Amino acid sequence: MLSTPVPPAGTPDTEPARTALADHYRAVRDRTSHLAAPLSAEDAMVQSMPEASPAKWHLAHTTWFFDRFVLSDRPGAPPVDPGWDHLFNSYYRSVGNAHAQARRGLLSRPSLARVHDYRRQVDERVLALLAGETDAPTRQRITLGLHHEQQHQELLLTDIKHALWNNPLRPAYRDDLPRTPGALQPLDWVRFDEAVVDVGAPAWPGASGFAYDNESPRHRVLVGAHALASRPVTNAEYRAFIDDGGYRTAALWLSDGLDTVEREGWCRPLYWDEGLETEFTLGGMRPIDPAAPVCHLSHYEADAFVRWAGARLPTEFEWERAAAAARGSGDITGNFADAGRLHPTAAPVAPGGDLSQLFGDVWEWTSSAYVPYPGFREMPGALGEYNGKFMSGQQVLRGGSCATAADHLRASYRNFFRPAARWQFSGVRLARDAR
Ligand code: AVJ
Ligand code: FE
Repeated sequence: MLSTPVPPAGTPDTEPARTALADHYRAVRDRTSHLAAPLSAEDAMVQSMPEASPAKWHLAHTTWFFDRFVLSDRPGAPPVDPGWDHLFNSYYRSVGNAHAQARRGLLSRPSLARVHDYRRQVDERVLALLAGETDAPTRQRITLGLHHEQQHQELLLTDIKHALWNNPLRPAYRDDLPRTPGALQPLDWVRFDEAVVDVGAPAWPGASGFAYDNESPRHRVLVGAHALASRPVTNAEYRAFIDDGGYRTAALWLSDGLDTVEREGWCRPLYWDEGLETEFTLGGMRPIDPAAPVCHLSHYEADAFVRWAGARLPTEFEWERAAAAARGSGDITGNFADAGRLHPTAAPVAPGGDLSQLFGDVWEWTSSAYVPYPGFREMPGALGEYNGKFMSGQQVLRGGSCATAADHLRASYRNFFRPAARWQFSGVRLARDAR
């Protein structure tokens, strides 16, 4: 479990600050190995679609990130193995040519054992670095590398889920995942007045903690009067949409969405069984809990559902304002990966009239296109490719999921995927204009 607080970015190079960063490094790196532990070498090599990567590649790529962006920039450091620099680079064109994403599943070599050796070698060198004096850019790159690794922890889970689901035996990632059935919560509406609200995070590194470049600059936006549903849409509600012929009602769909539905033959969420009674989870096939948030929806399905429900999607700013207010100065709580369930669960009873499950359980699709904030600046150098170049044709999701590390999230956090993507733990919350 990640009990170590993330050291603030501007932390001076003091002994306790270095120790905290080293502890955080160990915790995140160990967590990745722990997530990969149930997988055999065969499991770890599978790639079920071009968008998903083998677990072995995630283990290597996250390591390469430290190797390339922390270690290899240092004078006298041995260069990254040129072959591996090619294999485990994801998309940093300014670093060099990367092995094709769709062909990551063809890499039987290096072996899983060699990749684990690579992890240990890089860990030793990064920790040796942190045992002595370090400069601020190095500490910032290590911090970035840890947030990067947490993103890949979630991808490792969603990618292996997709791979295992493609096996007709529907094998579980783990047989011992706890189940938490919950009671169906009535849907309430929480009203928000029109306001000019501050959104986004101050540029990092700065006085406050880590944030990606795509979350800044912090700026003001006008948000109209609206209401948000008190909880995400449930499986029972989504089932009613299916039973009402939602997938066959052209008027509910965005044009690109309907094209996708027809081309792919979509008629239910990604992992639901034909009978609409059971679904594939990381714990294997299970009955669908009617009270739990529906997940593995594309943006297109989320959008068609809210239209059917007489509502609309929230904007990313409506979501952020609500999350920042609900959170106050307290911690971000929710059903995150740390809870070990790795599946969305029904809402705990919310304190009257409050929003529940803003964080955790399912990422919430928003109507906001993933575009730069006014005045956006990429991180300098090759790392400028991290987020900025994907700001085209993608939608923003907010709040984290049951596969996200709890200390990875913020109210200002912007996740993004193409609108047809549905292998993430993605769900939806209703919004509507206030009457
Ligand atoms: C933010 C989840 C879309 O999947 O490429 C991983 C995360 N960025 N390595 C992605 C990411 C760099 C990113 N998503
Ligand atoms: Fe990456």
